[in-house]
Amino acid sequence: MTIVATAPGKAILLGEHFVVYGTGAILCAIQMYTTVSVTPLDAKVRISSRYGSDEFQLGTNLDQVPPHHRPVMHIADELGLTTDVNIDSEIPPGIGLGSSSACCVAAAGAMLGCKRDGVMDAALRAERRVFGGASGADTAVCLAGGIIEFGKSGSEQLGGGDEITLAVASTGGEHSTPMAVEAVRRTRERDAGGFEAACEQVRGLIGDARSALDSGDLVSLGAHMSQNQKLLAGIGVSDVAADKIVAASARTSYGAKITGAGAGGCVIALVDDSNESKTLDAMRAAGGEAFAVRVDHDGLRVS
Ligand code: PMV
Repeated sequence: MTIVATAPGKAILLGEHFVVYGTGAILCAIQMYTTVSVTPLDAKVRISSRYGSDEFQLGTNLDQVPPHHRPVMHIADELGLTTDVNIDSEIPPGIGLGSSSACCVAAAGAMLGCKRDGVMDAALRAERRVFGGASGADTAVCLAGGIIEFGKSGSEQLGGGDEITLAVASTGGEHSTPMAVEAVRRTRERDAGGFEAACEQVRGLIGDARSALDSGDLVSLGAHMSQNQKLLAGIGVSDVAADKIVAASARTSYGAKITGAGAGGCVIALVDDSNESKTLDAMRAAGGEAFAVRVDHDGLRVS
């Protein structure tokens, strides 16, 4: 029997990087998806995706598995499952839209054959084994869908989101989340006081943004996203290409910032019907590959 699981990508509305140091973050699932199907197979694991098709015995050293297939192999190995895995993703990799988390969540959901029990742990263990110390925020929102606040004690589903459209622009560069996280660690080491002050501001922004989400106040939510961008630029994770797109889209939207690890990757701007198309135009004129996306409310689906 074949089991099919689909998980959404994500955008971080507030709090990336600072979340690693306990501030919390607000994330939304987006209507871009990775689908993983699994069919039982004798004696081996076969993994097929846009990167090709590979076969392995259970217990194969992960170093011998091509990087993009490692998390899925990790999950199959942990569960002791010989299986034929097909990965089909519309989420571009390496630009902060949650392609790895969506893949891990969908793979764990398909292999466990369920929507919730054990999926978060299996997906997060695979991400941490392959990509280092992920906070878990991406994994949590790809699993849950909607908008969440992710914090020290787990994730809390927030209401709203129907009014939110994000204009998304890729700067064209793939980024490495572990390298960006490491660069922030060194920045914090150089100026612990300044970093803690920024964390305190992010906590405040997150608290205010929750109220803005509750009342559907896009003007306030966007202003908080733009404030967050200043703090992200202050710790060095924005770059010239992103700065240019942020500046252009902040003029036409409710607010704009990078999303995810930065240093390449994407800019998001908060829009609605009144300013979506002029914001997409502004992003393109500033050099971004831009599109609009809405919030996914389903999270992981398994059938
Ligand atoms: O991999 P990305 O680009 O979605 O970034 C993840 C967000 C970080 O806060 C930078 C790291 C983390 O694990 O939360």
